[in-house]
Amino acid sequence: MIDPFGRKISYLRVSVTDRCDFRCKYCMSENMTFLPKKDVLSLEELEKISAAFIRKGVRKIRITGGEPLVRKGIMELFRNLGLYIRSGELDELTLTTNGSQLEKYAGELFEAGVRRLNVSLDTRDPYRFQDITRWGNFEKVMTGIRTAKAAGLKIKINTVALKGFNDHEFNDLVRWVGDEGMDITFIETMPMGTIDGHRSDQYLPLSDVKQQLAENWTLTPSAYRTGGPSDYFDVAETGGRIGFITPLTHNFCESCNRVRLTCTGILYMCLGQEDSANLKNVLRGENGAAALDAAIDEAIGRKPKGHDFVVDRQNDDRPAVPRHMSVTGG
Ligand code: 5AD
Ligand code: SF4
Repeated sequence: MIDPFGRKISYLRVSVTDRCDFRCKYCMSENMTFLPKKDVLSLEELEKISAAFIRKGVRKIRITGGEPLVRKGIMELFRNLGLYIRSGELDELTLTTNGSQLEKYAGELFEAGVRRLNVSLDTRDPYRFQDITRWGNFEKVMTGIRTAKAAGLKIKINTVALKGFNDHEFNDLVRWVGDEGMDITFIETMPMGTIDGHRSDQYLPLSDVKQQLAENWTLTPSAYRTGGPSDYFDVAETGGRIGFITPLTHNFCESCNRVRLTCTGILYMCLGQEDSANLKNVLRGENGAAALDAAIDEAIGRKPKGHDFVVDRQNDDRPAVPRHMSVTGG
């Protein structure tokens, strides 16, 4: 699959639920309205659409949410997609999780063929953790991370850089992941969906973060690539890596290789644009799975050049897109 800008599309992210057992302040409002349950695809349907993408050349699938591990029966999807790893049709099956259910599922994820995963963690201070996630349990996440490591899963921590919240903790986080043999990626807040506060109050450009880190660590640009949007640096002192995802300060769209499927079967060709394709109607329509290939081709042919994210008070903190990250999948 090649898009109109010559980018090869080989990476599919699937949000299996927009629901979550946390309510991170930059992600959701406390009383979120979720997608109606009746519109949500069955796991079997999500697998069928994923299979169509694999037929069309997708080599990497990331399961996201919401919190993917709160979806009932989710291990069935992991096991079934894991078969494509075994057959060599897929290079990687991975997920992004808040870690709350890892203690329960780490072993099964490994069995299914998952080898690496991303855990979202913005702070190592239990009180701050409680504050930012509203509903999270810090100890449970720590236990989840330990269990996943013990199960043989390679972990990358995802940290959203938030002004006045975790900006004094970055060095500590880098030290901790280094000691634990994990990597870390810092992410800028993106204007997706309405939240209870102002995004411009939280927005911290990663150029500042990088500058702060460079005063304490020897960072050299890394050759490491995961097929994702992160730009990596090796940390000489820890032997680990730091990634930066900078959708706002630096345009990460030129090398975009991914598209995103929501749990209701809507395909978004860009995280920051509204244009979409309704694959659920296609799948449930007359020619069923056979019609998916053509619908996917048509959608890739409309992939936009990039997003138009801006975060400032002047535009009233209007989100670039009305849907939350938990709908499209991070
Ligand atoms: N901007 C940036 N990152 C976000 N995440 C959730 N919402 C936002 C947002 N508005 C992060 C989560 C997780 C990843 C999937 O995206 O913390 O690490
Ligand atoms: Fe849940 Fe992740 Fe959103 Fe936090 S950032 S509320 S863990 S989906």
